[in-house]
Amino acid sequence: MTNATTAAHVTSPYFARNQWYVAAYGTEIGRDLFTRTVCGESILFWRTGAGEVTAMADRCVHRRFPLSEKPSRLDGDTVVCGYHGFTYGADGVCVSVPGQKRVPRTARLATYAVKEQDSFVWVWIGDGDRADEGLIPRAPWLDSERYSTVYGMEPLAARYGLLVDNLLDLSHETYLHGGYIGTPEVAETPITTEVDDAAGVVHVSRHMDDAACPPFYAKSTGIEGRITRWQDIEYHAPCLYLLHSRIAPVGTPGPAADGSDPDAFHVEVVYAITPETEHTTHDFWAVARDFALGDEEVSAFLAQNNRTVVLQDVVALDRLETVIASEPEGTQELSINIDTGGLAARRILRRLVEEGAGTGTAAL
Ligand code: FES
Ligand SMILES: [Fe+2]
Repeated sequence: MTNATTAAHVTSPYFARNQWYVAAYGTEIGRDLFTRTVCGESILFWRTGAGEVTAMADRCVHRRFPLSEKPSRLDGDTVVCGYHGFTYGADGVCVSVPGQKRVPRTARLATYAVKEQDSFVWVWIGDGDRADEGLIPRAPWLDSERYSTVYGMEPLAARYGLLVDNLLDLSHETYLHGGYIGTPEVAETPITTEVDDAAGVVHVSRHMDDAACPPFYAKSTGIEGRITRWQDIEYHAPCLYLLHSRIAPVGTPGPAADGSDPDAFHVEVVYAITPETEHTTHDFWAVARDFALGDEEVSAFLAQNNRTVVLQDVVALDRLETVIASEPEGTQELSINIDTGGLAARRILRRLVEEGAGTGTAAL
């Protein structure tokens, strides 16, 4: 965790500030300079010699050269700008400049609060004084020994709200993902929706008592007949989406009162929805299962299959972005029952955007 000073930003009416966002998988960040843009802010990440992730503005204070760009480099626990050599410590403070002894007092990079948890690197976008790690929603399956996990990230050329809509209404599985995870029962089965406005959490559930088993689950679990299939979504606005998926042959007893459920298969599908710019998004996805642990063949199948499904969404949402961008603002949509969760999420996001607007301070 670095100390958190507030980063320079242009307040956008599209992003919810004063929030935690997933910036990367922990495995992406090592002793190389790594950059990712989150909510329009270009951030430089690297690990110190002691293994701590640091996050700071990816722009040199001198002439704004990106510090992630070669020939910028890490030198021990300092970053040396590849343009004229300004050198910064892990706290973002400039420790040397070329041609003079005195380092200007204001020569420091904005730093960000970061927290590595559940295999993700979370970054706080907003007023650093308000970065409370206790607010980060959890996805404990991703680094649990009781689960095997496959994961990836796909860039999306669409605004993050379209991905939120997409994930909160899984009836689209029947149409967009037929032959992979979609079967007719998904679209046919009504949902129940519960909203905790104060906590910013939306729950959407769909329990199918007797459904066809799509290839995604048939091949990974070995189930041959029909299944009971539960989809229980928890969306923690703005960034984390959890789909608790329970699959069991029809007739299997339900979970016991203590929560144990040994005869069913469980898949925890996790998405982190991180705005990159107003019109692009980082689409992090992970699939954690509690069966076929360590089975490489099942892992390879699920990784390949889920990536295909994610890319089906990416193609559709990229196209939708071009349509929406070409239409006048306020063009009407028509919502039905399946949209209840998505509409609740939009309402919460609107509030978070409003609450976070204008709270940052200028760059140091
Ligand atoms: S732009 Fe970085 S040292 Fe000049
Ligand atoms: Fe989808």
